[in-house]
Amino acid sequence: MSIVSVPAVDVPRGRTRTVRVALAGCGVVGGSLVRLIRSGHAEVAARHRIRFELVRVLVRDRHRPRDPTLPHEVLTDDADDFLAAESDLVVEAIGGIQPALRIARAALESGRRYVTANKALVAAYGPRLAALARRRGGRLDFESSVGGGIPVVRALRDSLGLAGIRGVQGVLNGTTNFILTRMAEGRPYAGALAAARAEGFAEADPIRDLDGTDAAEKISILAWLAFGVRPDTLPIRRRGIVPHAERLVRDARALGGAMRLVAECVRTSDGVVASVEPAILQLGSELASIQDEQNLVIVDTERNGRIRLAGPGAGGDPTASALLGDMVRSSLRLRSGAGAVKRAATRDPRTSRWAVSVEGHHEERLRAALRMAGISAAPVRRSGGTGLVVTEPVAWQSIADSIARLEAWGAEPVVSRYEMV
Ligand code: HSE
Repeated sequence: MSIVSVPAVDVPRGRTRTVRVALAGCGVVGGSLVRLIRSGHAEVAARHRIRFELVRVLVRDRHRPRDPTLPHEVLTDDADDFLAAESDLVVEAIGGIQPALRIARAALESGRRYVTANKALVAAYGPRLAALARRRGGRLDFESSVGGGIPVVRALRDSLGLAGIRGVQGVLNGTTNFILTRMAEGRPYAGALAAARAEGFAEADPIRDLDGTDAAEKISILAWLAFGVRPDTLPIRRRGIVPHAERLVRDARALGGAMRLVAECVRTSDGVVASVEPAILQLGSELASIQDEQNLVIVDTERNGRIRLAGPGAGGDPTASALLGDMVRSSLRLRSGAGAVKRAATRDPRTSRWAVSVEGHHEERLRAALRMAGISAAPVRRSGGTGLVVTEPVAWQSIADSIARLEAWGAEPVVSRYEMV
């Protein structure tokens, strides 16, 4: 692991400053960060005249043997002791709301700078924590909370704010993308999930990846940065790849496309709308071409065209690399811009075609449900039953009504957005 050794454009003059760092969490991401701070210290000093000193590391069990090793006196399993340590910068890589929220509030209250990889925290409390940071003269940075090592937060926050953002679309969850890639190659779901966990891509509780929660938190953070809408107030239509991952992949194959879990937020005349849902995409298209744990973010702008940012979206090293970038930036005391505020829409006015499937013996019910909603749909010929249709373009609400009816009838419909051309 090394940091690119190109000189910084604007290397600060003078002596190297020591920045005291308190790190909460030393799991996959925190452990990678400790290794990166150690292996990259000479380059950070040469580029930025900064030396990071780890003064305290909060872990669940301080007696457990760990790699990387840390001096015993640095380790603590007590959040109060952690917060009492004199530090300039608090870095958090534990995830979840508590105790991360308590640590964030205490750190920012005391005017310290706070760097986090925690998307759940930023999605639920980002604007309030940012306001607290402003009031107290600290700052909040969270590049690694979305897109792993891809600098998408910075791009939206600092570079594209005046480009007239229309929408942001992407593959934002590495675990599900890894699973879908493997399943398309013929690997069973359970084995693909186990491999994603073994690689350190999945959340501690992988259901957050599988049911779309992780991607929903990330798109709400991007909607905040792109449109100024508060992430905790943005309704997100969210469907993941469970419980029917095999059927989703089978439907995509039957239609000649690729299955991806697509997250997006879009500005409409009614306000900002957002969704996370399975989509059947044209083979070879931008989103379909994103493999394994890679992420892709496409920012559609009025004045700057379509900006694409792709790279490793999950895993210890990419996330730690983004954390280290935030630590440097936070230590340099740079300022950032802010977007104009937009409101969230109460309904999604956009229309799409939808691929809806049921098991073969529910086929007649599928036809009836769509007929009752006035939706026309074309059946798809496939082996093992024809309970798969592609609808005309309709708004989500119409298709949601049909799904509710099918579920009430005991059919288990699987719905993907149909994006084939
Ligand atoms: N579990 C997350 C993912 C990790 O798979 O994308 C990175 O946020």
